[in-house]
Amino acid sequence: MKLSSANINVMVIACRKASKILIRDFGEVENLQVSLKGPGDFVSASDKKVEKTLIDELQKARPNYSILSEEVGEINNDKDFKWIIDPIDGTANFLHGIPHFAISVGLEHNNEIICGIIYDPIKDEMFSAEKGNGAYLNNQRIRVSSRSKLKDCIIFTGGPRLNSKERELALREYNNFSSKVLIPIRKLGSAALDMAYVAAGRCDGFWQRNLNYWDVAAGVVLVKEAGGFVTDFYGENEYIKNKSILATNSKINNEMIEILK
Ligand code: IPD
Ligand code: CA
Ligand code: CA
Repeated sequence: MKLSSANINVMVIACRKASKILIRDFGEVENLQVSLKGPGDFVSASDKKVEKTLIDELQKARPNYSILSEEVGEINNDKDFKWIIDPIDGTANFLHGIPHFAISVGLEHNNEIICGIIYDPIKDEMFSAEKGNGAYLNNQRIRVSSRSKLKDCIIFTGGPRLNSKERELALREYNNFSSKVLIPIRKLGSAALDMAYVAAGRCDGFWQRNLNYWDVAAGVVLVKEAGGFVTDFYGENEYIKNKSILATNSKINNEMIEILK
């Protein structure tokens, strides 16, 4: 049975409250798909409402913590503790009525992520982890997969964005994976859930360029606490600075780095 810390409890309460808006608005998006105007403006309003609810709840419980959130940016307070928030990760899915997106909240302490929650409100899957206390899906302990050969694996990736400067590199990496090793590569459209699925052993690895801190912050502690590795494409710790992330079950890390190099 999982014992939750006070910070994890605060995060869970905030995510559950915000998810009510998300579920209600997702129903509305499905209706708007058929309207001429489409759901674009509605979705950005929804994103902001979810973010505001998360921030209000987190600030109510921890008034001094700083915040970095995708839509509002930085709110500076306490130097040691900072919430890292992505109110909807997988916005394109949400916009198209595809039920695969999540709320992602991480807690940074002295530049290290110590707690993370990734909540998929449609499947009611709450992924949580705290440094030193393991990773969980709802109340069940999760661990990364044990596959050791890339040829037996399923790998996730995302991007590249159309306007990305590194588009050519990203395409080369994708081509290398699909031509050198004939394995299933999936793009499910939510980097946060991609990381959560590595932690849960549903896939074996995930790589992507041009990610922002809020896309992966919670996922980092989840993967590590589930026994996986998180590095940049060179096997180093600079994934935030380099905006290139590789998360694996640890066993296929070297093989993946060889291909990404
Ligand atoms: C995006 C998703 C997507 C990834 C993009 C991200 P958003 O986040 O995580 O899977 O490929 O790079 O920007 O825009 O849905 O919050
Ligand atoms: Ca995101
Ligand atoms: Ca987002």
